[in-house]
Amino acid sequence: MDKAEPEMYASQKDNSSSTLEKLEIELLLQGVYDWCGYDFREYAYNSIRRRVLHLVHRENVGTISQLLDRVLHDPDCLRRLIEDFTINVTEMFRDPLFFRHFREKVVPILRTYPSIRIWHAGCSTGEEVYSMAILLHEEGLYEKTKIYATDINTTVLKLAKGGIFSIEHMKKYTSNYLKAGGKQAFSDYYTVVNNGVKFDSFLTENVIFAQHNLVTDKSFNEFHVILCRNVLIYFNKELQGKVHDLFHESLGMFGILGLGDKESISKHHANYYEPINVQRKLYRKVK
Ligand SMILES: C[S@@+](CC[C@H](N)C(=O)[O-])C[C@H]1O[C@@H](n2cnc3c(N)ncnc32)[C@H](O)[C@@H]1O
Repeated sequence: MDKAEPEMYASQKDNSSSTLEKLEIELLLQGVYDWCGYDFREYAYNSIRRRVLHLVHRENVGTISQLLDRVLHDPDCLRRLIEDFTINVTEMFRDPLFFRHFREKVVPILRTYPSIRIWHAGCSTGEEVYSMAILLHEEGLYEKTKIYATDINTTVLKLAKGGIFSIEHMKKYTSNYLKAGGKQAFSDYYTVVNNGVKFDSFLTENVIFAQHNLVTDKSFNEFHVILCRNVLIYFNKELQGKVHDLFHESLGMFGILGLGDKESISKHHANYYEPINVQRKLYRKVK
């Protein structure tokens, strides 16, 4: 036997097992889409692969194909998959300097409008929405604002509506609020309840929480501001492009787009926006 052969065989085996894994993941995503309409086929591959392997382990099945079988026959398993694929990490006044710049650069623009429509796309459990409501309240703009807070995941939307957050996070959130230019005592906005802190209900009076899937659903209004932070990072380049088309279509002329810290606009879409602050990922539609 040629000396190189066993090595070659090992590398072929590695190749074919990763090809098989990719095929099984594609079949899983296609199966989920065909079965229930949730479309994860264009999510960033490496991140979805990690979630799939994690689920295979957690569901205690031997292969990805067996996971597909379970997902198709067990609605609870399907629900767990959807919850697991939609990563819900969030916090209040996340990246505080984003909110500080929003206050300093965007609020003066919004002051000139008779009414304001804001879309939080991928709002998770609502911390970002409560942060924005507080900011607008302090700037005297909340009364004339309607906030549309959407997410693909209905479980997180329920939590968002409830407005109860863990008390453990309040130290960090208070610090974020102050760095973001907060003008009052942060504790003015919540009361301590048994299982956490409950934010004042006036903060959701002008908020509509609704399910919306950025992959499969269309535009539903024309907005002055769209914030979609830390969502596109989970999508592949093609899907990011499609969602940017959706945002471009949904923003009025001179509307504001706010992205997450690690997200940016592709070269193609960059022509349609001028930066308000590139570092803070705030852009204004100009075309
Ligand atoms: C990491 S959280 C970001 C929350 C918040 N925007 C922030 O920056 O703190 C990502 C959210 O995007 C949502 N999401 C994922 N895919 C989505 C889709 N196709 N359509 C709408 N929301 C989606 C997830 O359910 C999750 O709540």
